[in-house]
Amino acid sequence: MAETKADGTARKGIVLAGGSGTRLYPITLGLSKQLVPLYDKPMIYYPLSVLMLAGIREIAIITTPEDQDQFRRALGDGGQWGIALTYIVQPAPEGLAQAYLLADDFLAGSPSAMVLGDNIFFGHGLPEMLARADARREGGTVFGYHVADPERYGVVDFDAAGTVRAIVEKPRVPPSSYAVTGLYFLDGTAPERAARITPSARGELEITSLLESYLADGTLDVQRMGRGYAWLDTGTHASLLDAGNFVRTLQERQGLQTGSPDEIAFQKGWIDSAGLRARATKFAKNDYGAYLEALAAGRL
Ligand code: TTP
Repeated sequence: MAETKADGTARKGIVLAGGSGTRLYPITLGLSKQLVPLYDKPMIYYPLSVLMLAGIREIAIITTPEDQDQFRRALGDGGQWGIALTYIVQPAPEGLAQAYLLADDFLAGSPSAMVLGDNIFFGHGLPEMLARADARREGGTVFGYHVADPERYGVVDFDAAGTVRAIVEKPRVPPSSYAVTGLYFLDGTAPERAARITPSARGELEITSLLESYLADGTLDVQRMGRGYAWLDTGTHASLLDAGNFVRTLQERQGLQTGSPDEIAFQKGWIDSAGLRARATKFAKNDYGAYLEALAAGRL
């Protein structure tokens, strides 16, 4: 099922969907943040769609121990989308880079694309941008996005020539307005690099430390994601509602879905119209089902 590249390795995917979601309490006291609705779909549909758009069909979903069953119920084995989902537990939220240690066996030396389960991307040209990152088989590619509040993120420090000097985690005085988004294309050396980093003062294996290892080798490519893209935050009550409204506005105006793994699977030819119809039937009572039905019938 894997789409093998010229060098014989298919890139595998990781959706990091653990964490504690404390900023969304009390909603997330009994429910993973990444399963909370973003308008008409569970939040994880959107980052999962990004990996699928990148052509990735073997994907690990990393969750807390208590939430794994709910993710299995929500997403199954991926067969409905012609992909293979593997579930991995993160016992405690000990940092984003820990994902590469937990997924070491799953990756088995393959290059990977990891997306944070609460990151929403939208924009014209996204498939091409993902294809370019996928085509770089050695080193890493991350994306810098201009934000109003860079101090909340890992921030890119560019020199006068525009070359990346460093990535600084939550700086008090940000060296630029470019935050590193939660989408990381890394080569097969990521797990061994993650094994060499030490926890930060807050006790986490920081993704910034892992990226620094690539930076030190001169193999980290930072692509600027232009203003035509939306990179949305869903971590707080207000930003979650804003992101949901964004999706609703877009979908109602265009009559097209965003973040639909069903549509992407169909367009990639990973499922046929009978497979898509089976999904449409499941959702026959709502607009999402009607959309999938129209897609299967060639009416879109
Ligand atoms: P955060 O938003 O930094 O943390 P959180 O989700 O626990 O939320 P809060 O700050 O409200 O307590 O996490 C970013 C994403 O990464 C999110 O999708 C959860 C995920 N994550 C893990 O899966 N494991 C981890 O160890 C950490 C730190 C985050």
